[in-house]
Amino acid sequence: MKMARLALGIESTAHTFGVGIIDFEGEVHSLVNDIFVPESGGLHPVQVKEQHLSNFSSIIEKALKEAKCSIKDIDLIAFSQSPGLGPVLKVGALVARMLSQLLNIPIVGVNHCIGHIEIGRLKCNIEDPLTLYVSGGNTIVSAFESNRYQIFGETLDLPIGNMIDSFARIVGLSHPGGPKIEKLALASDKYIPLPYVVKGMDLSFSGLFTAARRLVESKKYGKQYDLNDVANSLQETAFAMLTEVTERALAHTEKQEVLLTGGVAANKKLQEMIKYISEEHGARFEVVPLSYAGDNGAMIAWAGVLRYQAEGGHELSETKINSKERMDNIKIPWRK
Ligand code: ATP
Ligand code: FE2
Repeated sequence: MKMARLALGIESTAHTFGVGIIDFEGEVHSLVNDIFVPESGGLHPVQVKEQHLSNFSSIIEKALKEAKCSIKDIDLIAFSQSPGLGPVLKVGALVARMLSQLLNIPIVGVNHCIGHIEIGRLKCNIEDPLTLYVSGGNTIVSAFESNRYQIFGETLDLPIGNMIDSFARIVGLSHPGGPKIEKLALASDKYIPLPYVVKGMDLSFSGLFTAARRLVESKKYGKQYDLNDVANSLQETAFAMLTEVTERALAHTEKQEVLLTGGVAANKKLQEMIKYISEEHGARFEVVPLSYAGDNGAMIAWAGVLRYQAEGGHELSETKINSKERMDNIKIPWRK
């Protein structure tokens, strides 16, 4: 007996080379990630690209094994086409095109941010959420309106996860810094005032980052500050900014559901704050299950299935990567 039709999704926008296999009904059969961890400093696109190039075939093999199927059972290839690091996006696009042509099956390019929202809708079983997507590379408040995932608020400079990771690095904590800063913050209930910058519906984290860095670097404060207090204040300020913008977007859109996703969604304090304002507005609050909140191939596979079912695959000429494409540029034919 033939299984339900299967899509293989390839995530390759940044750290993660992820492969997910999902059937056309939305059941995930495998989820395999290979994550590049920088030894020091930030992400070097060329190093990430090399790691992805070395590992892609073993990741695909592992995913097929997990799904107990062969590459010949795959009916659709989806890949992350935008936005992300150019050299890294190209690896996923190349592998996807190769598989699509070798196997003679359709290919669909997916916007990474839309993938995050669609896997959230699927896994949390919700229809029409306001989404707060917070990760190393993104900080976006979005909701569906006029055939698109409109962006209501976003960062003007640093993404939230990147800001926290950079601060962690300064104080000697290894990547990823988010969970370590969360732990330090739990040990403090003291708030040191730090710059809170919301402009219209957009956020700016660079002033906050610089001020927190000054606190830990300045000898003058050497005896006064406690790292736990700085970590707590950094989180409190950044999360209050995110909460303010999310709440205003919720009041404006009057959505009945709020979805929290991206790697930073793992943070309990942030979950608590967004849950609180959601409930204040009578909206249902959901956090995407953490294995699907960070970057993964299943989200790409699922968004690929949705597009394929609505309007078929992409032509090869339409599969060029676009490292900057905004999700509000893309029409969503599978939603009314
Ligand atoms: P994207 O390509 O979508 O920007 P990414 O490459 O940053 O994603 P993710 O797995 O979505 O990958 O997110 C990783 C980020 O999540 C890192 O910045 C990490 O520090 C942060 N993070 C993980 N756990 C926590 C936590 N408990 N608290 C705060 N931040 C966290
Ligand atoms: Fe992501």
